[in-house]
Amino acid sequence: MNISIFGLGYVGAVSLACLARDGHHVVGVDVDPAKLELIAAGKTPVVEEGMVELMAKVVRSGQVRVMADALQAVHDTELSLICVGTPSAPNGSQDQSAVLRLAEQLGAALRALQRPHVFVFRSTLAPGSVEEVLVPILERASGKCEGRDFHVCFQPEFLREGSSIRDYDQPPFTIVGAHRPEPVARLRTLFGHLPCDFHSTSIRTAETVKYGCNNFHALKITFANETARLCEALGVDAFEVMDLLCRDTQLNISRAYLRPGFAFGGSCLPKDLRATLHLAKLHDVELPMHAAILASNRTHVEHAIAKVLGTGRRRVGMIGLAFKTGTDDLRESPLVAVAEHLIGKGLSLLVYDPEVHLSSLLGANRRFIEDRLPHIGALVRSDLAAVVAQSEVLLIGSSDKRTLEAVRRLATADHVVVDLAHIGDTDDLSARYVGLAWGDPRRDCAEAVASERANSGQPPQT
Ligand SMILES: NC(=O)c1ccc[n+]([C@@H]2O[C@H](COP(=O)([O-])OP(=O)(O)OC[C@H]3O[C@@H](n4cnc5c(N)ncnc54)[C@H](O)[C@@H]3O)[C@@H](O)[C@H]2O)c1
Repeated sequence: MNISIFGLGYVGAVSLACLARDGHHVVGVDVDPAKLELIAAGKTPVVEEGMVELMAKVVRSGQVRVMADALQAVHDTELSLICVGTPSAPNGSQDQSAVLRLAEQLGAALRALQRPHVFVFRSTLAPGSVEEVLVPILERASGKCEGRDFHVCFQPEFLREGSSIRDYDQPPFTIVGAHRPEPVARLRTLFGHLPCDFHSTSIRTAETVKYGCNNFHALKITFANETARLCEALGVDAFEVMDLLCRDTQLNISRAYLRPGFAFGGSCLPKDLRATLHLAKLHDVELPMHAAILASNRTHVEHAIAKVLGTGRRRVGMIGLAFKTGTDDLRESPLVAVAEHLIGKGLSLLVYDPEVHLSSLLGANRRFIEDRLPHIGALVRSDLAAVVAQSEVLLIGSSDKRTLEAVRRLATADHVVVDLAHIGDTDDLSARYVGLAWGDPRRDCAEAVASERANSGQPPQT
């Protein structure tokens, strides 16, 4: 393939060398003449293991050209990878000045082009940038239409400096965000041979996944480092602790606990986090990330309360009360916190939980509910149908299958379902749906179909 690469920093230079090595004809473009001169001389502009030899080899092979002329580069190629820097601005926002300037140039280059071109944004970009900012610039500057005269997609780059050639050849996965199948097919030709899964998704999702990955990596590093500082104070070997922690691939290094849902609670996580923070205080150890966890969890509870209040309805039926489905443990259940708050706001509340029978609650569990919600007995009902019938809002905090099936059956078009448990499919739900931190699958699906139709030129269905 004939490929142009814009921005010859770490990402662009490594991509240029690897794509040329794999037999493609590559044109490198940068605004920095020193980088162009280095590459033209077969030298690498970035310090990376293996790059000295690889760059010398690919430049010698004649597969690589460099130039400063963006117009020429677009005209000489069929696909462009955009790898310019997107650093932090002083206020923390993303400084997109380089990519915005470049988009103007690429659009101008497109104006005189007779065949469709594919632009692949590989720079890390704030979600929404490609669709809301870059495509409009390309269309305005070219006078052409995305999807018809040219294609755009976003393919996040996952290489790490220091091991970037290895990471190029063995990425964790390939993700391509695109509106249409054509650019995805082109990138499958380029990267489909790599030993990893290839996923195509929406542009905005791909942009967001890149941020999610980097934030998750930062979170993991900080977790290990805070754990080490605490271990140091306790005279415990942090490496052994983290090594053993990572050996649990069931709950720790796994998908467990990584599905969005409601706040955590129960008799273990909140109390053990509090005890960890207390221990740290005793030893003068600062654990700001650990300290932020409980505050963030409370924010999630407040978010749920805001969603219920946002419905404007006053009669709430809470489905689920225990801290998680399948238990009757009410201690530190975030649903209890929601119930308290709603009652405090003067809303009328009824509660149904298939596992909670007040008469059989024992010990600490019973004490907790008597201390926190002494009047809970008056609110709990054993008849789900009665709760649904007397409520305007159904606040779903349980994922119990049988209960959810019954709620789906009983809810009418007059109800609003506020879903804290992510009940999934809403097709058979006649009620209005409000997700805690996600949309209504029915609406998302309808929007996807409408956008697919718009893109394929078919008239919208009414
Ligand atoms: N460095 C990494 O390990 C890494 C990994 C994944 C993603 N990313 C992302 O990839 C992007 C590039 O990162 P990088 O580290 O390679 O950046 P970099 O700063 O090393 O290189 C960017 C290059 O773009 C050039 N440039 C600026 N404006 C240009 C223009 N109009 N036309 C042509 N070239 C232009 C600059 O001169 C520079 O050489 C960033 O968005 C970054 O967040 C970086």
